[in-house]
Amino acid sequence: MKNLTVAALLVVAGIIVTAISTSSLEIQGHPDNNKCIGQCYADYVAANGNIVEQERLRAEAAASMSPAELGKTAYVPCQACHGASGEGGVGPALAGRDAAFVVDALNTYKTNGTRGAQSALMWGVAGPLSETEIDNLAAFVDTL
Ligand code: HEC
Repeated sequence: MKNLTVAALLVVAGIIVTAISTSSLEIQGHPDNNKCIGQCYADYVAANGNIVEQERLRAEAAASMSPAELGKTAYVPCQACHGASGEGGVGPALAGRDAAFVVDALNTYKTNGTRGAQSALMWGVAGPLSETEIDNLAAFVDTL
């Protein structure tokens, strides 16, 4: 009897799982706006180019960007602590600092060096930065 109950429960569970996994989550009677195929895709490619063209444009744009422009992109995660315009926050203000100062500070943090009481917060940030990234960030901070 107990075995029969377990078997029955397993069958019911199986039916529920099958029903959920095979059901379409699409709302019936409405167009599926997650798919861009046919005319939608043709329009998209006409307006934006296909994926290969987009990648080439992106690479060309990156190649023609100045160090400060590249640094601006790399600065996005820094904003949380140093402010969008380097006005400071959790971290000290960076606006007004010149490139040499930033390169020196980041290289110290990169090697887990201590500058102020909260240097540990910068170790994880500076650790993965390459020499070029540090130069770019410094060039951008110089403009703030
Ligand atoms: C989690 C918060 C946080 C993030 C994110 C962060 N910083 Fe910092 N930063 C700090 C703190 C806190 C200090 C002060 C550390 C100390 O006491 O030495 C600091 C110090 C600095 C200094 C030295 C400033 C001075 O006046 O001595 C520079 C330069 C710097 N950060 C650049 C950056 C750059 C560039 C990024 C992004 C790649 C970044 N930080 C991301 C918190 C952060």
